Amino acid sequence: ETEKKISDLLSKMTLQEKIGQMTQLGTFDESDEELISEGMIGSLLGVRGAESVNALQRIAVEQSRLGIPLLIADDVIHGYRSTFPIPLAEACSWNSPLIEETSAIAAREASTEGIQWILAPMVDITHDPRWGRIAEGAGEDPFLGAEVARARVKGIQRNDWNDRPHMMACPKHFAGYGFAEAGRDYNTVDMSETRIRELVFPPFQAALEAGAGTIMAAFNELNGVPCSGNRFLLRDVLQQEWGFEGVVLSDWESVDELKQHGFAASREEAALIAIESGMHMDMHALVYHEHLINLIEKGTISESLIDDAVARILRIKFHLGLFDQPYVDAKLASSMMLAPDHIQTAREMARQSIVLLKNEDALLPIKPEVRKLAVIGPLADDRDALLGCWGGQGRSADVVTVLEGIRSLAEPGTEILYAKGCDVTEGAEQERKDAAAVARQCEVAIVVLGETAYMSGENNSRVSLELPDSQLTLLKAIHETGVPVVLVLANGRPLSIEWAQQHIPSIVETWHLGIQAGMATADILFGRYNPSGKLPVTFPRSVGQVPIYYNYKNTGRPHMKRYVDEQITPLYPFGYGLSYTQFEYTGLTLSKSAATLEEGLTVQACIRNAGGMDGEEVVQLYIRDEAASVTRPVKELKGFRKIALKAGETQVVEFELTAKQLGFINNDHQFVVEPGSFRVWVGPNSDDGLEGQFEIVNEVVNEAVNEV
Ligand code: IFM
Repeated sequence: ETEKKISDLLSKMTLQEKIGQMTQLGTFDESDEELISEGMIGSLLGVRGAESVNALQRIAVEQSRLGIPLLIADDVIHGYRSTFPIPLAEACSWNSPLIEETSAIAAREASTEGIQWILAPMVDITHDPRWGRIAEGAGEDPFLGAEVARARVKGIQRNDWNDRPHMMACPKHFAGYGFAEAGRDYNTVDMSETRIRELVFPPFQAALEAGAGTIMAAFNELNGVPCSGNRFLLRDVLQQEWGFEGVVLSDWESVDELKQHGFAASREEAALIAIESGMHMDMHALVYHEHLINLIEKGTISESLIDDAVARILRIKFHLGLFDQPYVDAKLASSMMLAPDHIQTAREMARQSIVLLKNEDALLPIKPEVRKLAVIGPLADDRDALLGCWGGQGRSADVVTVLEGIRSLAEPGTEILYAKGCDVTEGAEQERKDAAAVARQCEVAIVVLGETAYMSGENNSRVSLELPDSQLTLLKAIHETGVPVVLVLANGRPLSIEWAQQHIPSIVETWHLGIQAGMATADILFGRYNPSGKLPVTFPRSVGQVPIYYNYKNTGRPHMKRYVDEQITPLYPFGYGLSYTQFEYTGLTLSKSAATLEEGLTVQACIRNAGGMDGEEVVQLYIRDEAASVTRPVKELKGFRKIALKAGETQVVEFELTAKQLGFINNDHQFVVEPGSFRVWVGPNSDDGLEGQFEIVNEVVNEAVNEV
């Protein structure tokens, strides 16, 4: 029935109206209202609030000839008004249902302000912490990345409060954006197709399998061809191979940028390349608006290309029920924004996002006997920083700072002394001395250091991964007082904190946690929640080690790889994170030592909470294919389970190993499982665990690489 409506509508549309549907405006003023009334605009980005959205929608529905509603898009990256941890932090939870929940809440709040299309999740895998947008993704691993992508899309599109689908997700940026050379945003990406398929595609495939009906093309070029004019990506892979029937949206003016890339000689040629490559909607460049009509009139392209794109766009609008219900109920937002259960979920998500990196002599949790506590550092009371990059509609006024969280959860009677100590990037000796004097009066000093919100995020790359000088100097000064120091990091990317690792007894990675940052951090510091986060990225000792990641190749000289001036190993490996309790791993058992792929096999391990506190553990499964026609990484994550264990409790965790986990993409770009020997580990991180070995005795070759 919808298809009939789409073809009826298409048959009535002029060419210009069709091109209008393929045009998105990102900024606009009153003069653009005329374009809307003429049916020249299909989508708006950046308009929010029932009143504003309804007013513009009314122009489209009531004044344009065919009354086709607008599709209202927005970047909702980690919460709408209820701001959750940055996505990289949420990935530390390894808790897909909770990630789905925060995405659903974000979508629900956004929807009450008239948003119907969320330009997220960002599912770009990256190996480069210099790249500011690492903050927006799920880290370095395609398996974890795919799990998180799936959860986010399910959450964004979850239909649990309205009588119809109310939101469409747009996974981005297709493809390879996270591999920009030297971590410079928008930079060149050159990598083999085999590697792209193995590392970059899985989270996109997972997002589409979860139902995302749109996808955003990336700014970067991939192997010499800009993604916004990349037929291989947008047609061959996306449409032909994966059967994608949805809408491809460009990034901001990225169709026009085909010219700057040196790939198109003019805006007209940019339009031609983009439409032929499979780009359905032009974000803000107005290149389609200006040039598609000429291209058709000259006979350079056929109108069927346009019809295909428009049908896809209309299908989304029908799916979202916009033709029946184009307006948003202005009464909804007030009861939805910052609803108590949203704030509660923000706190739960924030505490599960925190990673305990070091805890010598069990300095944490802070003992109830401590009577005087120093809170020091430029980020301890900085609302803007804790909100994180791409804060969107989040407001710093809603953020509970670390200082406030500590004040509200400390044992009654505990004295809390605060000193800022320095600014994020500048410091004065006197301020430092004053902070040290404050620390000296206390039994423990909590030092909150890191990055501002806009030291990460889009186009905020860094050449250094160190704490800025002012802050490192402050940390050293507080350490010199002899008062035990807890370093609380608030940052948007992995940092190289080797000095701190050597000298500071306790280190807690809290990232930018959003509105409940302070409460969640205090929950951890006082032991109201036992830390369970695990890193989704490797922490380098030095920026010179970048790219550094756990699933590297062995090479022919594994023991000779070295630096003359630094160790080869990371500071903290992928999957790493401590708890206030200890988890013991024993009894790795494989159901078979040799198996056919049809049989598969199971791997079991016994995990015991051997400490004195209840806790949660992320049990991780890694494999290594020991010899293959394309060399395999030394370890690959292939499963994980987050379990809760009471003190003294034991649980057996079982993983299944099937062809899906044992195979890889060969150089003919087929999915294959090759017979031979595999190693398997079950453990607490990528650098530790019980090890086993098994054989696979038969082979699988599957042309269909679109399964993840
Ligand atoms: O969605 C974003 C994208 O991630 C980066 N460029 C701008 C877009 C729209 O704001």
